[in-house]
Amino acid sequence: MKVAVLGAAGGIGQALSLLLKTQLPAGSELSLYDVAPVVPGVAVDLSHIPTDVKIAGFGKDDLAAALVGSDVVLIPAGVPRKPGMDRSDLFNMNAGIVKNLVEAIADNCPDACVGIITNPVNTTVAIAAEVLKAKGVYNKHKLFGVTTLDVIRSEAFIAELRGLNPANIDVPVIGGHSGTTILPLLSQVKGVSFSDDEIKSLTHRIQNAGTEVVEAKAGGGSATLSMGQAAARFCLSLVKALNGEHVTEYAYVEGDGSDAQFFAQAVRLGQQGIEEILPYGELSAFEQQCKAEMLDGLKGDIQKGIDFVKG
Ligand SMILES: NC(=O)c1ccc[n+]([C@@H]2O[C@H](COP(=O)([O-])OP(=O)(O)OC[C@H]3O[C@@H](n4cnc5c(N)ncnc54)[C@H](O)[C@@H]3O)[C@@H](O)[C@H]2O)c1
Repeated sequence: MKVAVLGAAGGIGQALSLLLKTQLPAGSELSLYDVAPVVPGVAVDLSHIPTDVKIAGFGKDDLAAALVGSDVVLIPAGVPRKPGMDRSDLFNMNAGIVKNLVEAIADNCPDACVGIITNPVNTTVAIAAEVLKAKGVYNKHKLFGVTTLDVIRSEAFIAELRGLNPANIDVPVIGGHSGTTILPLLSQVKGVSFSDDEIKSLTHRIQNAGTEVVEAKAGGGSATLSMGQAAARFCLSLVKALNGEHVTEYAYVEGDGSDAQFFAQAVRLGQQGIEEILPYGELSAFEQQCKAEMLDGLKGDIQKGIDFVKG
């Protein structure tokens, strides 16, 4: 299995690369690419960890070499939020970065599974899909917006609230990856029940958890360590699936379009990427209302990505 991380020298990229160096199956390869000159050093640093994962760093002129032969490509390249910024404020900086990187993926490893971390995910995934379509290599079973952070945050917050072990909590989170488009289905969390007030405040906390980190870091960036963990969890599940196990994760993917063209939901992963998009079941009245209220915004975010590529 070869995994490439594009933007590997950044806050997320370094945390993610460390977790992959220590947790990818023996015999895997890890390819680190960044435009920042420190990237070969990050690779050398990680290479001193004695695991059977081969690691190589690639600087800005070596994108093709970083990508060739990749089974999975993860993209955390781009600019993170500062206090007062919404994820959509990152569009101008990050849209072009994602477009260029995905063009290179289409040219060098068109069969790879691609996980987009760069914000605004609601829009950058649509950009990636349009780029791959224009290159004639789009496979909707292999393109993912990585929304795992919304799931792990929900697990952590519920465990904290109820004094439970987070390892025993599963929280479905559907929709998109920005503000009210993030919709945790608290009515479906097994073994825990919440009052209406708790549902409102927990939902609000989960939707604004990214901002909690941005404000606490006071201008020093957004979530990097928890995001590194989230992306590693997603990547390791995907690698297991590509190796023949069936694994379920939540991700922002192209489904049947009944809610929006791209929508985060549970996906069963297998050797060809997404094998099945799983239904999200019945929503409570509160969740139905939240979904109805956010869909237009999500569709607008998606259209912005399509328009960016089509011009
Ligand atoms: N999906 C999520 O849940 C989630 C969570 C947190 C952050 N993010 C997003 O992830 C992105 C990265 O965040 P970060 O905190 O790691 O930022 P960072 O600034 O620490 O790192 C970004 C890295 O990208 C690199 N980069 C910039 N342009 C590049 C290019 N064209 N090719 C390769 N590398 C390039 C930079 O050199 C830098 O090393 C941001 O857009 C942020 O909003 C997503």
